[in-house]
Amino acid sequence: MSVTPDLESRVKAPTNIPTGESIIRGMTSACQAAGAVNLAQGIPSYPLPQDLQEAAVAAIRSDDNQYTAPRGSMRFLQAISEFERRRWNMPAPYDPETQICVTCGATEAMLATLLAVAERGSNVIVITPGYESYAVNLRLIGVEARYVRLRAPGWELDPAEIAAVADRNTRAVIVNSPHNPTGRVFTREETQGLADVCQRLGIVAIHDAIYDELYFTDERPARISDVPGMEQRSITINALSKMFSVTGWRVGWVTGAKDLMDRVARVHDFLTIAAPTPFQAAGAAALSLPAGYFDELRSVYRTRRDILVGELERAGVSFQSPAGAYYVMCDVGPFVRPGEGEAQFAQRLLLEGGVGVVPGQCFYGAAERTGGPQIRVAFAKGEETIAEGARRLSGYLGANRSQARRDHPVG
Ligand SMILES: Cc1ncc(COP(=O)(O)O)c(C=O)c1O
Repeated sequence: MSVTPDLESRVKAPTNIPTGESIIRGMTSACQAAGAVNLAQGIPSYPLPQDLQEAAVAAIRSDDNQYTAPRGSMRFLQAISEFERRRWNMPAPYDPETQICVTCGATEAMLATLLAVAERGSNVIVITPGYESYAVNLRLIGVEARYVRLRAPGWELDPAEIAAVADRNTRAVIVNSPHNPTGRVFTREETQGLADVCQRLGIVAIHDAIYDELYFTDERPARISDVPGMEQRSITINALSKMFSVTGWRVGWVTGAKDLMDRVARVHDFLTIAAPTPFQAAGAAALSLPAGYFDELRSVYRTRRDILVGELERAGVSFQSPAGAYYVMCDVGPFVRPGEGEAQFAQRLLLEGGVGVVPGQCFYGAAERTGGPQIRVAFAKGEETIAEGARRLSGYLGANRSQARRDHPVG
């Protein structure tokens, strides 16, 4: 419905609303319209154990359908506390009453956290490439995003660069490990370096840990909240979404020190009141699954990764093999035609190659770019879909590399 001219003249679109729809979600609709294989959006595909399905249905049938307390149902809060303690060998578990807040997915968790730590006129450091929502969230709340780049091709983090862009108005840095879109798992040294900088600057580290059950390294990924001295200045965000393939349940949580969590919980109360009640009940059952569930999950995703990585190698694409999450960030410089942007390239891949990917620009916000054109390819789908998508991708890229060379011979 269009707004009336009268309304248009009085109610201008505020400058802080996003300039368009999410590029990632837009690619999913484009894939559906074009009948292409969707290796764009990270919608996980992994069967939800029957018991968990039953737990959600049983909660609805037993009329567990009203708001819970804003911070979450006590059963789910206790399950989160126990899950985090067990998985992270925490000597002192999070207090379910004061150190956890259940939210509507990691997305609301991040927005509530940013509102709890940063006010208008302040700034927050965003690492690029990085998940599309962070810069948009900051724009929504009128907080400046300051950008720090990971170093291609290995995507290493240099904590000194955080200090270089920070000033007295910096409130926090957002870190995401395992990382979307590169699959990087930051090392203990990088995590320690980041913690040192946060302590020196007096800022908060917000760790989006949504992929922290999806790692292919021998060791569990490091958590900044584990670094001594960071207990009071780190906030960790997690969700059921990716580890149980239930992105539609909209259940996430935030953990951290009591003072910070009091603020997050107050914001959350007025943003959404509470997360969906029946899915909190099912979430309590999910977090009690034995370690074997997560081992199997990792092994399945490792196989998917290997299928995609094998095809990308065959096509001669340069990329860093992911150590976690389910994305590969590819350098597509040799395949892009002169004058063609990443978005046009992704469009061509979709329409001519029959496969959807995300153009790299989506992960840089308003940050300055260096380096060549990139695309992100997700391996969240089942093996057959990934194999088909990866074959189409490598076939098209293979044909296109020579095409680009013929059109523009080197030397
Ligand atoms: C890094 C990261 N954080 C958060 C989210 C969103 O999580 P949720 O669906 O729980 O809101 C995603 C989804 O792809 C993501 O990649």
